[in-house]
Amino acid sequence: MKPLHSLTAAVVLGVGSSVAMADDALLERAQLLFEPIPESAADHIGERNEITPEKVDLGRMLFFDPRLSASQTISCNTCHNVGMGGDDNIPSSIGHDWQRGPRNSPTIFNAVFNVAQFWDGRATDLTEQAKGPIQASVEMNNTPPVVEATLNSMQEYVDAFEAAFPDSDKPVSFDNTAAALEVYQATLITPDSPFDQYLKGDKDALTDQQIAGLDAFLNKGCVACHNGVNVGGQGYYPFGVINRPGSEILPPGDTGRAQVTETAADEYVFRSPSLRNVELTAPYFHSGNVWSLREAVAIMNDAQLNSLLTEEDVDNVTAFLRSLTGKQPEVEYPVLPISTDETPLPVIPDYPRAAGAEG
Ligand code: HEC
Ligand code: HEC
Repeated sequence: MKPLHSLTAAVVLGVGSSVAMADDALLERAQLLFEPIPESAADHIGERNEITPEKVDLGRMLFFDPRLSASQTISCNTCHNVGMGGDDNIPSSIGHDWQRGPRNSPTIFNAVFNVAQFWDGRATDLTEQAKGPIQASVEMNNTPPVVEATLNSMQEYVDAFEAAFPDSDKPVSFDNTAAALEVYQATLITPDSPFDQYLKGDKDALTDQQIAGLDAFLNKGCVACHNGVNVGGQGYYPFGVINRPGSEILPPGDTGRAQVTETAADEYVFRSPSLRNVELTAPYFHSGNVWSLREAVAIMNDAQLNSLLTEEDVDNVTAFLRSLTGKQPEVEYPVLPISTDETPLPVIPDYPRAAGAEG
């Protein structure tokens, strides 16, 4: 009995310790390629636009204020809903006058950590980015002078801008509006996902299937384009390195980064998206035409990796991606200043009013 017993023990120990070593190697490799979401993005923005409580409060008001739009019905939160993963969960966004934009709305959560903003990276940071949607005719359709007149018409806003930008010659300005929006969005980060707990050394934070998924993600090549603190968002790559997806998924009219750089080599090149909270942000891709996360992984496998992943790997990688859901920001909905006689009136397209008193 005794020899058998110790043999069994040796086998169990042997297997156990070699698995443990492989686990350690996987964790070490992951720690080299990714970083946990920090508790604050202050170091990330730095002195360019310092995070202060006054700017955060002002930025929060602006983010939720539909009066930044011409119709006064569309706020940043309309398309970047902070209770729904920071996006709108429809294929492409609906903006002013029910117009449909061309692209899917990316989440604003953790956007501060991306190398540049938009699917094609055309804005270098969140301040530059924020000026886009306010003026875009298919989004909020407003102009800087009307935004400034609107904000100047309410004393609480004037006070809030003066508190947030004490050294500014003209505190209530379109530029400062964008700067406050950047600072507020820099607080919308999602630390402490199971994957972050794992990166900090807690190997039990991931399930066995998620560990297997991480292994495939690293060893079969997803990590080449989805790495760093945001598991993506750091570089530009062709969509369809190996096999170009069909026009439903990659509409031929949107050539991506080529429209920014005017270089043929950048046709169908896009910024790899962050995969943080990806289970919350369906539908997927810049076209927003893929609703299932597993299908998105399978498409990436075919388009970018020539189907190196087996069907089981695809299941496992999908499970791993669900470990990237972090603690969602707890957001206090701001009480907004009331409009005055000086506030510009909403510009509402000429829709007929429905008869009767429904609703
Ligand atoms: C009508 C819907 C809509 C509204 C309103 C809107 N956005 Fe967006 N937002 C989008 C879409 C769509 C994109 C992607 C466009 C692209 O890449 O060309 C986007 C992109 C972004 C990005 C880039 C994220 C990334 O990872 O690249 C940020 C940040 C952002 N919006 C913030 C804002 C802010 C701040 C406001 C309010 C001032 C706002 N958005 C208003 C739809 C909207
Ligand atoms: C060569 C670079 C590259 C590789 C390799 C790669 N991706 Fe991507 N990934 C991208 C780009 C670029 C996009 C954006 C495509 C688009 O919509 O234009 C993307 C989009 C995605 C999306 C959609 C996210 C969203 O929010 O819409 C998921 C999910 C994804 N990748 C997962 C993976 C997985 C899993 C692997 C490995 C099987 C992988 N990627 C391999 C570059 C890459």
